[in-house]
Amino acid sequence: MTPAERDQYPEREVALKNGRRGRLRFLRQDDGDRLGDLYEGLPEEAGRFYWPHPLDREHARGNAARADSPTEVVLVLELEDGSLGGYAWYRWRGNEARASGFGICVAGPCQGCGAGRVLMERLLEVAGRVGPPVMSLTCQHANARAVELYLKLGFRVIREGIVKGRRQWPAEPQYWMERRRR
Ligand SMILES: CC(C)(COP(=O)(O)OP(=O)(O)OC[C@H]1O[C@@H](n2cnc3c(N)ncnc32)[C@H](O)[C@@H]1OP(=O)(O)O)[C@@H](O)C(=O)NCCC(=O)NCCS
Repeated sequence: MTPAERDQYPEREVALKNGRRGRLRFLRQDDGDRLGDLYEGLPEEAGRFYWPHPLDREHARGNAARADSPTEVVLVLELEDGSLGGYAWYRWRGNEARASGFGICVAGPCQGCGAGRVLMERLLEVAGRVGPPVMSLTCQHANARAVELYLKLGFRVIREGIVKGRRQWPAEPQYWMERRRR
């Protein structure tokens, strides 16, 4: 995301259902360790549903180093104590890409408290002007909370299939979903 695009979307204060407050802002290059703390504190089950790469500090630092990439938008929820309560992103390949790929992950104590919804609503707002016109994602059937959230926010199922097993998790059914933003 370019600095000019970032300037169009100022930080936003949010309140979660568990009483915690925070702000939505874009990822910065100095967020590596905060993102690492988020990854390392995730419940084991999160790695069944969210596994773009190993959820360790090294990958967190690599992601933060790319915070200014022109083909990625990464939004974080920073809580009042400075820790990250979650983050969501989409990224695409080149100016002509039809669709971006989307990912989201919320810290254990913030799950079920509206963090996923506020992150996604803001990200969808940004996608109305930045990046490809379509956002796509995959989601296992067993991830009921995510399926519910995506359908409520206007994603539709375009295909179903099986995701390969990885680490201790077996192969299981998943949806491919899309949401047009413009
Ligand atoms: C999936 C995830 C992003 C959802 O974020 P969240 O903050 O936990 O979800 P929210 O509290 O915003 O809830 C969103 C919706 O899910 C639904 N929901 C909440 N808890 C639910 C549950 N236990 N079962 C089914 N639906 C549920 C609610 O309908 C809610 O809608 P509402 O905003 O109208 O009330 C989050 O739980 C997470 O990071 N999980 C681990 C990683 C992961 O699964 N990533 C996504 C991979 S596809």
